[in-house]
Amino acid sequence: MSTTEQRVAVVTGAARGIGAATAVRLAAEGRAVAVVDLDEAACKDTVEKITAAGGKALAVGADVSDEAQVEAAVARIVEELGAPTILVNNAGVLRDNLLFKMSVADWDTVLGVHLRGSFLMTKAVQKHMVDAGFGRVVNLSSSSALGNRGQANYSAAKAGLQGFTKTLAIELGKFGITANAVAPGFIATDMTAATAARVGMGFEEFKAAAATQIPVARVGEPDDIANAIAFFTNEAAGFVSGQVLYVAGGPLD
Ligand SMILES: NC(=O)c1ccc[n+]([C@@H]2O[C@H](COP(=O)([O-])OP(=O)(O)OC[C@H]3O[C@@H](n4cnc5c(N)ncnc54)[C@H](O)[C@@H]3O)[C@@H](O)[C@H]2O)c1
Repeated sequence: MSTTEQRVAVVTGAARGIGAATAVRLAAEGRAVAVVDLDEAACKDTVEKITAAGGKALAVGADVSDEAQVEAAVARIVEELGAPTILVNNAGVLRDNLLFKMSVADWDTVLGVHLRGSFLMTKAVQKHMVDAGFGRVVNLSSSSALGNRGQANYSAAKAGLQGFTKTLAIELGKFGITANAVAPGFIATDMTAATAARVGMGFEEFKAAAATQIPVARVGEPDDIANAIAFFTNEAAGFVSGQVLYVAGGPLD
């Protein structure tokens, strides 16, 4: 790749929230960005924001937990944007419930999107990274990886992504590929708004209550996470691999 050629980044779950902020941020850093989400039409806002700012983006509809859709999506990205060498596995869903009430379907859905989805996307994209001798994988973990009431499925998936990330770092490092995880705390998005609605609280009240437990005394915004992801995807971060960065407004362990 010549130094003037644009690197292609893939961001999953990029129609809104953290994924949308990340897609916009990576485009602002000069990446051509594939905006992947379940519904191609829902990616329009993110793509328009990028192109309005002079960037390059492509909307791609795909369910990351479906192998055939992932392969078709990556083939289309290669064809229309070029071979991807940056991958942000961000797509996510919640199906919260206490263990004794959690259905097998809700377990499978959450593990399917977060873990199987990240596996399928990484497997499909890594060959292009190996060919390029360069790659950056960032997986979205969560503070819930440390355990969270009502999230047996989600915490297992987010802890699983940390092991997945470290193994990618070990296997792919010799090809110039790094893999890292960003583990957000409370970020104001549709996902946390839905949680507020589920527990019967207004979102402002819910955020204010969460902020009292956070050392920097505010909840996070999608740009707080996009900023950390941008660091890991930078060319200069080539010696940072297999790490889990908690971005939560304070320490977590
Ligand atoms: N918001 C938080 O507080 C928080 C905290 C920790 C981790 N996270 C993680 O960050 C990521 C983004 O979260 P968010 O808050 O922006 O969520 P969000 O619900 O606002 O956005 C998630 C996006 O993923 C898409 N998506 C869901 N299933 C998909 C699938 N099978 N294939 C493709 N796309 C799919 C959705 O359509 C949606 O656009 C998730 O992995 C989430 O678990 C969020």
